[in-house]
Amino acid sequence: MRLSRRRAATLGVMGATLAGIGLAQAAEPVKIGLILPYSGPFAEYGQQIENGVKLALQQAAGGRRIELVRRDSTGPAPDIVKRLVQELVVRDQVDLLAGFGFTPNALAAAPIASAAKKPMVILNAASSVITTKSPYIVRFSFTLSQVSQPLGGWAAKNGVKSVYTLVSDYAPGHDAETAFKKGFGDAGGAVVGGVRVPLKNPEFSAFIQKIKDVKPDAVFAFVPSGEQGAALVKTWHDYGLNAAGIRLLATGDLTDDGMIETLGDGAIGMITSHHYSYAHQSPANAAFTAAYTAAYPGIRANFMAVAGYDGMRAILAAIQDQPGALDPDRTIARLAATRLESPRGPIQIDPATRDIIQTVYIRRVERVNGKLVNVEFDQFDQVKDPGK
Ligand code: PHB
Repeated sequence: MRLSRRRAATLGVMGATLAGIGLAQAAEPVKIGLILPYSGPFAEYGQQIENGVKLALQQAAGGRRIELVRRDSTGPAPDIVKRLVQELVVRDQVDLLAGFGFTPNALAAAPIASAAKKPMVILNAASSVITTKSPYIVRFSFTLSQVSQPLGGWAAKNGVKSVYTLVSDYAPGHDAETAFKKGFGDAGGAVVGGVRVPLKNPEFSAFIQKIKDVKPDAVFAFVPSGEQGAALVKTWHDYGLNAAGIRLLATGDLTDDGMIETLGDGAIGMITSHHYSYAHQSPANAAFTAAYTAAYPGIRANFMAVAGYDGMRAILAAIQDQPGALDPDRTIARLAATRLESPRGPIQIDPATRDIIQTVYIRRVERVNGKLVNVEFDQFDQVKDPGK
């Protein structure tokens, strides 16, 4: 172990020296530490995000060589991620850090990014506070506040008078709850109660029974994308909440395009807000979904795939004319000035906050050509993170 660490350090110094005199640049790849959940119940995050990253690399073939150093966060596991990121920086000597499916993992990595001056590109984690934790962090995904506040306003203007909130009990859930309440309250709605459910393995039945008794017009929900959404929708139907006249509103994490078919027809009619739908109508999304399907048959691109794709395209643009060792300050400044036509619509990074500005769509689950999809029918343009 000691030998390989010393050897890595030697190689690092040698690379910098050669780059300094303008030699061997082509031979030095840019190393990106990619930290994602590749195993466990959230393994789909790793698959979708990495697929998006690799698609961007494949489409950019011919530029500077990129080496992905993949590490498995296993899920929301800040202690594991802290260790992995330390190793990536010290032993593997990566130039950039990227990935981060979960907020606690991004927060654990932030001080290391600052101390080591490593640009850190967020490809999913979505609580507002993350980008304030290091000047080297830039986000290409979304924030829960960004998508929840517009949905609150939309609900109040569309006949919903009382709402009960149900969110995962950690920072993204708290953000979603606060932002929905603000949007809904400002437009005249009343939040009549709420519950925060455990992040890991929540059991929804008791909460759903309680909601049935309270009988609000609607529930606003956020749970992390994946199997929890399917469990929630199933319990919702088992307890007859639709039949009781209660509507389920949620962030698009709950109707994630990658797993929406597992929700079944019970999801039809559900209203959600999010920044990307597989069914988004644009030439950029038609090209993206066609390329994605060709590269990864049987997997439907979701919002995480798009974040991986856009984040990697932005990284490539930021490093393209830096032939030697990357300058972290120059790299982060460029990432923070990104403007792209994304499969989700136009996106830009706010240089002041290094957070993403994008369109937020209101969508309805429908079956179109045999597939369950999120059909966008209303939108809010250039939404900044309202949590800052
Ligand atoms: C997060 O931990 O920030 C997170 C995880 C899953 C989501 C959204 C946000 O679907």
